[in-house]
Order: sequence, then C-alpha cells, then structure tokens
Amino acid sequence: MSVLSGKNVLLGVTAGIAAYKTSFLVRNFIKAGANVQVVMTPASKDFVTPLTLSTLSKNPVYSTFYDSEEENEQWNSHVDLGLWADLMIIAPATANTLSKMAKGTCDNLLLATYLSAKSTVYFAPAMDLDMYKHPTTQQNIKKLQGFGNVFIPPSSGELASGLEGEGRMAEPEEIISFIEDHILSNLPLQGKRVILTAGPTYEAIDPVRFIGNHSSGKMGFVLAKQAASLGAEVVLITGPTCLSIDNLAIKRIDVISAQDMYEAVHQNFNIADIAIFAAAVADYKPKTIADQKIKKKEAVLQIELEPTKDILASAGKVKDKQFLVGFALETENEIDNAKSKLKQKNLDLIVLNSLQDIGAGFKSDTNKITIIDRDENITSYDLKPKEEVAVDIFDEILKKIDA
Ligand code: CTP
Repeated sequence: MSVLSGKNVLLGVTAGIAAYKTSFLVRNFIKAGANVQVVMTPASKDFVTPLTLSTLSKNPVYSTFYDSEEENEQWNSHVDLGLWADLMIIAPATANTLSKMAKGTCDNLLLATYLSAKSTVYFAPAMDLDMYKHPTTQQNIKKLQGFGNVFIPPSSGELASGLEGEGRMAEPEEIISFIEDHILSNLPLQGKRVILTAGPTYEAIDPVRFIGNHSSGKMGFVLAKQAASLGAEVVLITGPTCLSIDNLAIKRIDVISAQDMYEAVHQNFNIADIAIFAAAVADYKPKTIADQKIKKKEAVLQIELEPTKDILASAGKVKDKQFLVGFALETENEIDNAKSKLKQKNLDLIVLNSLQDIGAGFKSDTNKITIIDRDENITSYDLKPKEEVAVDIFDEILKKIDA
C-alpha cells in the first residue's frame, strides 16, 4: 500500500508544455489511493483541459477565485483548499510561477492557495535549459527550498524547443516515487520498532471452555495502524479477536493465553523502541486444565484459579531503552489506581480508561482517556473514535521521546 493512500493531494498546474503530463500524474496519485484536487493557472488551460483533470481527479478543477459564468457565482476559497491539502505539488512549475512564489506574489488562485497551504509543498520545475540555468531561476529555487518547500529536480533530455539539456519535468512516476520516499524518510517513527499487545486472553478450563473477557482488541489494532502510518515497524501480539489487519509494516502474532502472550512479548521486547500494552490480559487462570470436557453434575463446581504472569510488569522489570506504555481500566479511584500502576510497573505513560465514562472501554468504537506521565502530569481527552484516540496517544509518546 502506498504511503499516499488516503492523503489529500492538491496539484497546482502552471502554463508549461509539461502540463500535458499532469493527466498521468493525477491518474497515478489516484491509483496510489490519494484524493486529488487540482488548481490551475488560467494560462495552463491552453496546455491541458480542466475537463480532463476533473474527470481523472473526480473533483472540480479551479482556476479563478470565482466562476463568473456560473449563475450562482461561488467563491473558490484558496484558504479551504490550502487547509484541505495533506500535501501540495506544483507541477509543472514554470520560471514565472517559481519567481512569483519566491517573491510572495499572489495574482492568481494557485499562488493564493500556495501561500495558504500549511502542508509540505513540492515543486517540479519545467522549462527550457537556458531559463532553468539562469541565475534568477536558480536563486528562486534555492529561496523556495529555504522556505521549506521541496524541490523535485527536472531531468535532462530533449526539450520542447528541440534543444537538449536540463529542464524537463520529472516523469509522473518519478514524481510519485520521489514524494513517497520523501514522506517515508520524514516520518517520526521511521526506523523505530513498536510492539503492541491487544485483545483478550483465553485461559482454558477444559478442551472446550475458557475464562475470557469482552475485549474486542480494537484499541490495540488502531494503535498498530497509527504506529505503522508514522513509519514504525510494528509487532502486534493479539489475543483471540475477529479483527483483521492488512499492512506490510505490521507483523501479527496470534496468541491465546496470557502465558502465550508473555512468551511472544519477551521474544520481541529487546528489539522494541516503544512497547504499548493494550491487551486485557486475564489476571487468573485455572490451576489445572481438565484433559476431557468437564461433565455436568448436581454438585457445585469449583475451579481453583491462580494468577497469570503480569506481562507489563515483567517488561517494566527488564526495560532498558524501551518507552513503556500501559493501560489501566478502572471503575473507582481511577487516577490514584492508575498512578500506582504506573509506578509499580515502571512505565513511562499510562492510559486510563474509566468504565464510569459512557462510550469508553471494551467493545465500543469510541474511547475517553486520561494520560498520566512519570511526573504525574495528567491530560484528559474528550470522548472520541478510537482512531483519533490512537493519534492522541502517539502525539503524547512522540512529545516524550523527542524531549
Ligand atoms: N497487564 C499485563 N498482564 C497482566 C495483566 C495486565 O500485561 N497479567 C497489563 C495490561 O495490558 C494493561 C495494564 O497491565 O496495560 C493494566 O491492566 P489492568 O487490568 O488495568 O490492571 P491490573 O494490573 O491487571 O490490575 P487490576 O486488574 O487489579 O486493576
């Protein structure tokens, strides 16, 4: 899966002959799973039609601040477009547009959108070789890079003028791989390993029965996806769940009992940079497992239980460089209980769920958390979808590991 999947890509097209290649660029972004909107300079419409780009992008194409031919004139907001974008790419970027971008000139919708964009802006110049070599163009490119924009170098070859040299816009496939590589190499967890536990554990009573709990595993799974989208290599150790995960950066290890989870964790813990324990591990297991199915009798049945190993506490004991995050599910004295778990288990952060909060905890698609760190700083969050909760948890982890 491309790192561009699900990303909002804003393509700015300016008036160079290479504009004809933007139809392939839009196609390739769409193939990579991105959502694409296109803004064109008025003159670029002589090189490629808005109809082509709007058909391929499945979105309206904008080139003016408002469309004067429309009966209900509508403002095309450069601010909204700029905010929508997860990344902006200006391709082809002519010498004229580069110069205006470098100066902050804002005389068309594309330039106003560029100035409004909060995301990374890539630019792929395209022009004749002498224009490209000209010191002003070279200076403008340097200036734009100095502003944090990312330069996608042109290639050398035959140019539209018939001359040979540098100035040909990078091919659409090259632009896509350049952006993918750039995003990947700038992800905050690139090169880091994250291990996660998720789901319930089942403790066998006999060949057909077990002690378990209602954990769906969802919180652990969305945390795994979030870690992967931040660039980490993930090991997800999960108890029985009906959830599936399809991401090459996530290695899934299925376990059943607390003992299985303990072993899988310790086989992977020493290589981890971050370890998050979101599993609802059974605290007790039957002392003996019956070989045969236990038959129904009139008398009361007693099953003797013994504690399982506390996997998180055992990780806290051997922890070295690992940033260790635990969860606490509480029904009373929530903050105090969570603080003491943080200390006893030697954690860096604890994520508290209170079962007193409606919409929090097992099975639900939402969660309401409070995060407590080693210095006992407490941050409480609103009730949110679990995907957003995972973002909050990783934001907090990133703040701490960067500090
Ligand atoms: N945990 C674990 N192994 C266990 C029990 C818990 O790894 N045998 C982890 C959980 O994954 C969670 C944290 O410890 O990250 C706290 O779990 P919780 O059930 O809230 O607390 P317990 O320590 O089990 O204490 P209690 O059930 O008494 O509240």
